[in-house]
Amino acid sequence: MRVSGTVRVPGDKSISHRALMFAALADGPSRIRHVLDSADVRSTAGVLRALGAEIPPLSAEFVVQGRGPTSLHAIGQELDCGNSGTTTRLMAGVVAARPGRARFVGDASLSRRPMQRIAKPLAAMGARFEFERGDGLPMVVHGGALHDADWTSAAASAQVKSAILLAALVGGVSAVVREPARSRDHTERMLAARGARVRVDGTTVSLTAGGPLAPLDTAVPADPSSAAFIAGLAAIADEGEVVLTDVCVNPTRRGFIDLLAEMGVRVAFEDERDEGGEPVATIRVAPGALRAACVTAERVPSLIDELPLLACIASLAEGETVISGAEELRVKESDRISAVVHNLRAIGVDAEERPDGMRVRGARRALRGRVATHGDHRLAMAFGVLGQRPGNEIEIDDPACVDVSYPSFWRDLARVTGR
Ligand code: S3P
Repeated sequence: MRVSGTVRVPGDKSISHRALMFAALADGPSRIRHVLDSADVRSTAGVLRALGAEIPPLSAEFVVQGRGPTSLHAIGQELDCGNSGTTTRLMAGVVAARPGRARFVGDASLSRRPMQRIAKPLAAMGARFEFERGDGLPMVVHGGALHDADWTSAAASAQVKSAILLAALVGGVSAVVREPARSRDHTERMLAARGARVRVDGTTVSLTAGGPLAPLDTAVPADPSSAAFIAGLAAIADEGEVVLTDVCVNPTRRGFIDLLAEMGVRVAFEDERDEGGEPVATIRVAPGALRAACVTAERVPSLIDELPLLACIASLAEGETVISGAEELRVKESDRISAVVHNLRAIGVDAEERPDGMRVRGARRALRGRVATHGDHRLAMAFGVLGQRPGNEIEIDDPACVDVSYPSFWRDLARVTGR
């Protein structure tokens, strides 16, 4: 298989959600370019609009008229978050800090995901939560005056950290969040760029109360988690090269691309620069002799969303890949440990599930079978990459679910392989 071409994958999903939220909460107009127009980001736009923000239809470039941190109103609306955990958890932080209440709902996958992880710190700040069924959605958030927060998270979760920081920002209180390891830091970077008083000290983040949030013109860099699929395709090719432009290479997000280089893939970074507080680069990726990898807990946060793809690539690498310390994978859009291992086995790979990860033995053989995505976009794309190798026949049960984060995925894949 030969790969070739230059791809600017769509805008980063985490940054796109936050760009809309911070633009709505700022005092004044923010121009946003290259926002990701996908189902998840549309969920955030819809929730913001339901709370009174003026968010235009998503397009290549638009302006959001921000009306300040206290401009959003929860008056008992139903907020449909679709498939998006980031929308739910971050917007719960906003609603928690405003007088009023809102009911958060979502699709079947989102409704199964744990929400106590944000309800607990936000309740400690003074908000009240009602759950109709255990830990998941529907969830009613009653907001009001908040107290300062000092929270130690059990898991390294950017969504938990960001929910607390957003509640503090909107509620006009201070917050300290301590994490066991550094989770992605877009909230801190974006708040700092907009004039908020944020401090980062190791794995502790603090926000000091007070001051408005300045509007900012931003360009959303290309999503490293989407670029990973194209890079992964190059990693399992026999020849050629792909060029990925404008990719966010934030240290909290680049674990996968660095790991590919350690696995023997030829990776080069060019034109490294800073855009709106995020490091951005062009990445060239070409196949090399692919070796197995070992991923342990310290590294997991920097490549958490790429682990299903890593497992798929590992099925073609020389040796045995072991992933551990990744129990968080069980509470993503699907149980990504169980689902990945079941699907790998279904197409003929030697793989084993472990409580906190998996083991995958590589072999160059034809892989055939049907993959159950459980509506999980990253599963569809990871197995979609594997399906490109000549000889492999992998049927994906729900290819359209890629719309959650990378609507042009199948087109980009076809372009790079020349099919
Ligand atoms: C995200 C944080 C991560 C990640 C998710 C997006 C974010 O989740 O897996 O895809 O935008 O903050 P956790 O906060 O649960 O680790």
